[in-house]
Amino acid sequence: MKIPALPLFLALLTLTLFSACQEDNTGDPTVCDNCPQEEPILADYNPTDYSFDYLPDHFPNPILPPDNPMTEEGIALGRMLFYDPILSRDSTISCGSCHFQELSFTDGVAVSTGIDGQLGVRSSMPLVNLAFNPRGFFWDGRSATLEEQALVPIEDHREMDESWDVVEEKLRNHPDYPAKFREAFGIEYASEIDRNLAVKAIAQFERTMVSYQSRFDQVVWAQQGWPTEEEQMGRDLFFVEQALPTQEHPGCSHCHGSSLFTENNFFNNGISNVEDLESFPDKGFGEVTGNIYDNGKFRAPTLRNIALTAPYMHDGRFATLEEVLDSYAAGGHGIANEDPNIQPFALSDEQKQAMIAFLNMLTDTSFVNNPAFSNPFGE
Ligand code: HEC
Ligand code: HEC
Repeated sequence: MKIPALPLFLALLTLTLFSACQEDNTGDPTVCDNCPQEEPILADYNPTDYSFDYLPDHFPNPILPPDNPMTEEGIALGRMLFYDPILSRDSTISCGSCHFQELSFTDGVAVSTGIDGQLGVRSSMPLVNLAFNPRGFFWDGRSATLEEQALVPIEDHREMDESWDVVEEKLRNHPDYPAKFREAFGIEYASEIDRNLAVKAIAQFERTMVSYQSRFDQVVWAQQGWPTEEEQMGRDLFFVEQALPTQEHPGCSHCHGSSLFTENNFFNNGISNVEDLESFPDKGFGEVTGNIYDNGKFRAPTLRNIALTAPYMHDGRFATLEEVLDSYAAGGHGIANEDPNIQPFALSDEQKQAMIAFLNMLTDTSFVNNPAFSNPFGE
C-alpha cells in the first residue's frame, strides 16, 4: 500500500505543534508563535446578490455605496443586529425599540426614551426609502451615510450607551453571529468581526425598507382605481404651485415633492416663534453647517406613511395632521430665514379634510406588514 507522504507529514507536524503548544503553555506568547490560536469559522461564504428590480418606474435609482454591495446574507445579518438588544449596555434597547415597523419605524412619542428610561431630545424618524437620500441622515443631516449613522445610537448615552469595543467582543463570542458575518462578508475568523462590518449589514437592511405600494402609487402611478373626489381635491391643494410664492397656496409639494414626497432638503418651515436666529432651542442644520442662516432648519421628511408617524416635527410638537395644517396656514412668524413658500393661506374645513384624505393615501400597509422587515427574534 502506498502511503501518502505529504498529508502524513502535515498531520504529524500539526500534532507536534499542538502538543508543543499545550506543554509550553506558560502564558508567554513567544513560546508558541505558530500555535493555531483561533479556529476558522465553520460556515459557507456564497452570497446571493440583492436586486431592486421590483422598483416601479416612478422611483429614482437607489444610492448604493460601491464598498457595501447588498446581499441577502448581509441584509439578514443587518436585520438581526437591528433588532438585537445586545447592542445596548444592559441588553434592554435595540434599534427596533425606537423604530417600530407598524409606525413606519417611528415610536409614537414626541421624544424617544432610551436606556434607563432617559428621554432624548428629538423625535424618532421614519425609516423609509432611506436608500434614496443623498443629503445626509438625522433631522439635521449630520451623518453622511447610513453606515455612519448606525455607529451613533450605540454610543449615545441617552440611547443604547454601549461602547463599540464591547459590542465587537459580544458579537465575536456569540454562538450565532460569527457564522452570519462569514456568510455575509466572507471573513475567516471571529476576531475579524468589527463595527464597520456591523454597520454595513445594518445599512444593507435599512436600504431594503422601500415603501412604494401606497394607495397613491396604485391609483396615480399604476392607474388601478380612481381617487375619491375628496382625495382629488386634497391632491390638487397639495400640489398647487403658483407663479408668485407670495400668493396664497399651501405649496406643500415645493418641499415634499417628487415620488418620494421629499427631496431631503433643509428648510425653516415656520413652526418656531423665536426672538432671532440665535434663539432656536434646537439649531438643527445650523449646528452642522455653522451658518447662522441655517439655524432652525431641519430636513423636510418624507410624507409617505405620514398618517402613522404622529406626533410630528423634529420635536414632536404637533399631535395631529390638523395641527400641522393649522401651523402652515398661519404662514410662519416672520423669522429671517423662513422659506418664502411659507405664506399664510386659508382652508375651509372641507379643504382641510380633503388634504388629510390625500395624505392618508400615502399609507402603505404592505410596507408596515412586510415580514421581511419584522423582528427575526419573533418579539
Ligand atoms: C432611544 C431611541 C432610538 C434608538 C435606540 C435608535 N434610534 Fe434611530 N433615531 C432616533 C431618533 C430620536 C432619531 C432622530 C435623531 C436626530 O435627528 O438627532 C433617529 C434617527 C435615525 C435615522 C435617521 C433617519 C433619516 O431619515 O435621517 C436612522 C437611519 C436611524 N435612526 C436608525 C437607527 C439604528 C440603525 C439604530 C440602532 C443601531 C437606531 N436608530 C437606534 C431614536 C432612536
Ligand atoms: C418650505 C418647505 C416646506 C413646505 C412648503 C412644507 N413643508 Fe412640511 N416640512 C418641512 C420641514 C423642513 C419639516 C420638518 C420641520 C421640523 O421638524 O422642524 C416638515 C415637516 C412636515 C410634517 C411632519 C413630518 C414628520 O415626520 O414629523 C408634515 C406632516 C408636513 N411637513 C406636511 C406638510 C404639508 C401638508 C404642507 C403643505 C401645507 C407642507 N408640509 C409644506 C418643510 C416644508
